[in-house]
Amino acid sequence: MSRFAGKVALVTGAGRGIGAATATELAKGGAALALNDVDADRLEDLAAGLRGHGVKVTTHLGSVMEEDFIRAFVDDATTAHGRIDLLANNAGGGPPMTPWAEFAQSDFAHFRAIFEMNFFTQAQLLHALLPGMVERRYGKVVCVSSISAVLGQESGSAYASGKLALHALVSSVSKEVARHGVNINAVILGNPPHPSRTPDRQAYLDRLSHFDRVGRLEEFGKAIAFLLSDDASYISGAAVPIDGGLIAPRLNE
Ligand SMILES: NC(=O)c1ccc[n+]([C@@H]2O[C@H](COP(=O)([O-])OP(=O)(O)OC[C@H]3O[C@@H](n4cnc5c(N)ncnc54)[C@H](O)[C@@H]3O)[C@@H](O)[C@H]2O)c1
Repeated sequence: MSRFAGKVALVTGAGRGIGAATATELAKGGAALALNDVDADRLEDLAAGLRGHGVKVTTHLGSVMEEDFIRAFVDDATTAHGRIDLLANNAGGGPPMTPWAEFAQSDFAHFRAIFEMNFFTQAQLLHALLPGMVERRYGKVVCVSSISAVLGQESGSAYASGKLALHALVSSVSKEVARHGVNINAVILGNPPHPSRTPDRQAYLDRLSHFDRVGRLEEFGKAIAFLLSDDASYISGAAVPIDGGLIAPRLNE
């Protein structure tokens, strides 16, 4: 299936996890890729594998926390590929050396940095790429959010706040650009596996899922790829849960 043939996609934090799963689905569908990560080995390994699908893949090593890097990334990717049609605004989480803490005890500089990583990085990329999408009357954007945005998270208020701000950005900007051929959605991820999670924590999250199991990375990648595809042409301004039902908790044991 080549539903992304002729399309160019930019994916942040693509080296592993959700970003790698999304990039893989896009490559399988024939998209050319501009991939970003801070980890050179992960980035190059993934790119080498995805080139096996016969698509052009460029790699862009750097941190989305740096405004100058984002500007250079967009310029380099646009020069290499001609244009960007699809944006998987995926990188997020916690910046290095920035502990999560209960709000009252938190270092406010850390609060600000975590919020920034989960909101301003994605907002800046969208801001940089949107004018070209509007001009060409084609664009698909997915901003990766979390169940923490809608449920709240102890010791994760900065993360949850940054992610929820994404929802407001998406629903607002969508109204401005849908008539210009650009779809923008957020995805509310719940329960993807993560290497940093303890087995006990993972088991707790799995019990909350309606499926009693963790989501597979490819399940998240496929759903994000769907929202980046023309099959989702009438979906915009939404915050779509991909969470195994986690935000609709089971009331019975
Ligand atoms: N895994 C989860 O439990 C979970 C839950 C909800 C939402 N999310 C969201 O999903 C997205 C992806 O998370 P994941 O689980 O795949 O994480 P991950 O840690 O598995 O992968 C993140 C990738 O991003 C890269 N990265 C980290 N900082 C970066 C930076 N500043 N610039 C560029 N790349 C950077 C890392 O090197 C890594 O390859 C994030 O926005 C996260 O908030 C994850």
